[in-house]
Formats: sequence, C-alpha cells, structure tokens
Amino acid sequence: MSAQDVPSSAPAKSIGILTGGGDCPGLNAVIRAVVKSATIKHRWRVLGIQDGFDGLIFPNKLCELTRKEISGILPRGGTILGTSNRGNPFAYPITENGITVEKDVSPQIIENFHKLKLDGLIVVGGDGTMKIALELNRRGIPVVGVPKTIDNDLSSTEITFGFDTAVRTATEAIDKLHSTAESHHRVMLVEVMGRDAGWIALHSGIAAGAHIILLAEIPFSLAAICRKIREREEIGRRFSIVVVAEGCRMIDGRPLSESLKVHRLTPRSGEAANTIGSLIEKETGRETRVTVLGHIQRGGSPTPFDRVLSSRLGAEAVEVIAHGEFGNMVCLHCNSVKSAPIADAVGELKIVQPNSELVRTARALDISFGD
Ligand code: F6P
Repeated sequence: MSAQDVPSSAPAKSIGILTGGGDCPGLNAVIRAVVKSATIKHRWRVLGIQDGFDGLIFPNKLCELTRKEISGILPRGGTILGTSNRGNPFAYPITENGITVEKDVSPQIIENFHKLKLDGLIVVGGDGTMKIALELNRRGIPVVGVPKTIDNDLSSTEITFGFDTAVRTATEAIDKLHSTAESHHRVMLVEVMGRDAGWIALHSGIAAGAHIILLAEIPFSLAAICRKIREREEIGRRFSIVVVAEGCRMIDGRPLSESLKVHRLTPRSGEAANTIGSLIEKETGRETRVTVLGHIQRGGSPTPFDRVLSSRLGAEAVEVIAHGEFGNMVCLHCNSVKSAPIADAVGELKIVQPNSELVRTARALDISFGD
C-alpha cells in the first residue's frame, strides 16, 4: 500500500502504529492490543508502519492491520512491523555519490503522514524513539508514545515491558553458571545489557544470588572485586559469580579498554566482562570464564507479566488517542496505567540510585558492588 492508495471513505478514524529502536519481548502484544481495541471497540482502521520511522519516509512500507495480521502474535518475541535503531529522521544517513551525509527528512515524514489521512500515530519505543516522537509532535503530528526497553531506563514509567523477560533470561543463565562455577572452583563473569542503567544486572544478580554486581551507576575498583573473591575463599567458597552490566565503569573513570576510548562511544558487547575477567585472572591467579548474554536478552517469548503490561499499555494508547491527548506517553504509575507528557519521559534516564532500597538490600545479602 502507498500513501496515495488510502481510500477517502475512511472509517471514523485511521491510526498508524510503528515500533522503533531495539526490539524487545512484548512489542507484538502491544500491536495486538492496539489493533483489537481500535478495530473492535472503536471501529477504527489501523495502518502498520514498517521498520520504525523508515516506514513513513518510504511509504510503500505500510500494511493494514486487521485481526488476521495479529492472530497468534501475543507470545511471539520481536515485532511483526520490523524496527530500526539507526534511522533518526532528523539526522538520516543518505549516501550520495559514495558519500554519506546526514539529512533532516522529517518534512517527508510529515507530508506522508498527512497524505495517509491518519488521525493519530502510536510510537512504541525507548528513549531515542520518544525523543523523535516528541519532535514530530512539536511539528504537528498527533503522536502517542508507548514505552519499551529491556533496559527499564525510561523515566515517567515504573517499569517497561521487555525488562521482566530479560531479567528472567539473565537469571536462568546465571543459575546455570552457578553449578559449573562451583564444580570447577572458578570465577564466572556474566555480561548483561545496560549501557547507562544497571537494572538488568541488579535484578538478575539478586534473583540468581550473584556475589558481585558491577553497574554503570556504582563505579568499581579491581582491588575491591579481588578482595571479595579472596574473602569468599577464606570461608571455603572457592567460586564467585560476577554480574557485569555492559556499561560499568571503574572508580577512576577509566574506560575498560583502549578500543572503548578510541573507537566507540558505547561499549561493544562482551568488551566489559572480557576486560574485567582478564584483570581478575591476572590479579588473583584464579581460573576465570566469561559468558556474554548479548541479544539473547532481547529475544524470546514475553513473560506473562510483560504480556499483561504490553496489553494494558496498547489498549490505553488507543484511549489516549480517543481523548485527543497527543504528545503523551502511556505509562505505569503506582501500578495503574495512565499517561504523561512525552517531554517528561525523555528529560533524563531512570538509572539505579546507589543508595536506593534495592542496592541496600543487595548489600545486606553480602553482594559486593566492587566499590
Ligand atoms: O535496547 C537497549 C539495548 O539493549 C542496550 O542495552 C544495548 O547496548 C543495545 O540495545 C544494543 O543494541 P544494538 O546492538 O541492537 O544496536
């Protein structure tokens, strides 16, 4: 379908939905809830926009979503719409004569949106996607946001869907590493996702009984980690489990490897745990092994909690459109679904507070943060 093909005798309302940024379990459950609620309850028409905002830049990437398209997708990971975390329309990479330049293609998006005669656009995404949604809203696009990220670092909502599934995946992996670490008397490091926020590391570390958790929010020192490993040995515990958030930092702010400093702004998967693992092995002489969970945490079937949360948020996003509350993002507040301005959600990331109750609980459980 293209922007020109949309029939003029449209039903009461036509809305679009897209998923942007990294995928996570629960996206399909949101799409399903939006389509069910919009088409059955409100008798609206829903257009699925493919590959994030790309689908509005190239409007041949559209498909009408009916009950048929959403049948059976509730337990499926990923997103039937596709997604992209590389296509910011305000700095869109375009290659001309072999040279790649960044262009603002938002006017194209706005034009296509109006050609499609859409009354609202549901944007499902994390911090980066919400920032784009906010800018489009400021340029007149009636946007409603739905927060998603396994990292759980979006402000204005207590929890994002995808997080519970990711924590379950990480917890199960750490449980499995426990037995082999104990049998071989080894130090086992598990790297989990979380560039800026260590929620997955903190929750899975507590859930799986880790001995050391390293987060971006609590800088660590190698000496403190090695001290903890030796202390455990002194009481006969000849193995240790270290959960490493990919964005963790050393106390002196030193990057964990030269390549981090020189080539990239964000860590490459595995870099943090492998660097720390080598340092621990060198310092303690203990056999050390590293497991990097990587994108496994983003895949798989959503947990029941994530399915329920996704369904609640999807249905509420449709109600927010019905009430014309554009520029808002649906969210979970005191375990109730409501909506709040997107502008409040994108101001600052929700990170682990070093003195929070959960960190204190971990310390009470004799977990070290390497500080
Ligand atoms: O969804 C957020 C996140 O999972 C981060 O924790 C991670 O660093 C990043 O995505 C990786 O994304 P990609 O490899 O898809 O660019």
